[in-house]
Amino acid sequence: MIRLKDIVLVRDKKTILQVKDFHLAEGERLAVIGPNGSGKSTLVKVLALLEPPTSGEVFFRGEKVTSKNNLAIRRRMAVVFQEPLLLNITVFNNVAQGMRFRGIDAEEIQRRVEYWLDRFGITALRNRKPLNLSGGEAQRVSLARAFALEPEVIFMDEPFSALDFYTRMELLESLGARLAETGATTVFVTHDINEIPYLTDNVAAIDGGMIAYKGRLDSLLAGEVATPSVQRLLQPFKKSMLHLL
Ligand SMILES: Nc1ncnc2c1ncn2[C@@H]1O[C@H](COP(=O)(O)OP(=O)(O)O)[C@@H](O)[C@H]1O
Ligand SMILES: [Mg+2]
Repeated sequence: MIRLKDIVLVRDKKTILQVKDFHLAEGERLAVIGPNGSGKSTLVKVLALLEPPTSGEVFFRGEKVTSKNNLAIRRRMAVVFQEPLLLNITVFNNVAQGMRFRGIDAEEIQRRVEYWLDRFGITALRNRKPLNLSGGEAQRVSLARAFALEPEVIFMDEPFSALDFYTRMELLESLGARLAETGATTVFVTHDINEIPYLTDNVAAIDGGMIAYKGRLDSLLAGEVATPSVQRLLQPFKKSMLHLL
């Protein structure tokens, strides 16, 4: 679906991402994990075509991404950030907004908004404004907005990190069910390994701007790939994961 080839991204004379070869397959559901500042968000921005790499190539369904086709391809993807970034209009209109930009007709917009409000359990909020929603409710709106676009790939960059534990668990359950239903190709960034089993057993681990591991979560935790960078990466999780091993 998306391939990165010899990607290097330099900012302020510092190499913050270096990926020789990376492939996200159609229908793949990938969690991306790594410590603070390891390059998780940068990887998502490059994959979602929000940030051009300093060098290297991005391919979408085999087609090389260029400045000409960039916008058209970007419109086939959706991104959910940690902050819901909602507009001061009703929940219904927030979910509808992205589709309006993409020229989808009103009847279809109506159908999709109602469907996704229902799937994320927020139909009752349809006439509310985002300002008085809880953090969890707001993030449900932002998920509904992304899914309603019926994107070919959905990126989520630590979408639940700002939420309390209980709300986070609820949203992980809900998102896991929706992803299983749609089979959407997904990249889910988290700094918390505990979130991954709700969504997938397929994980990429980033360390120092490089992909140190891509494979099954259980193999990673079983220590099958004990390179120094992966070891270092797992260190912070060892304690919290003890009860699962
Ligand atoms: N625009 C930028 N200019 C300079 N450095 C940046 C920029 N964006 C990110 N960085 C640096 O790149 C590294 C990776 O950042 P980021 O991808 O946001 O990490 P993560 O999401 O894993 O916390 C960090 O060291 C960060 O400070
Ligand atoms: Mg980040």
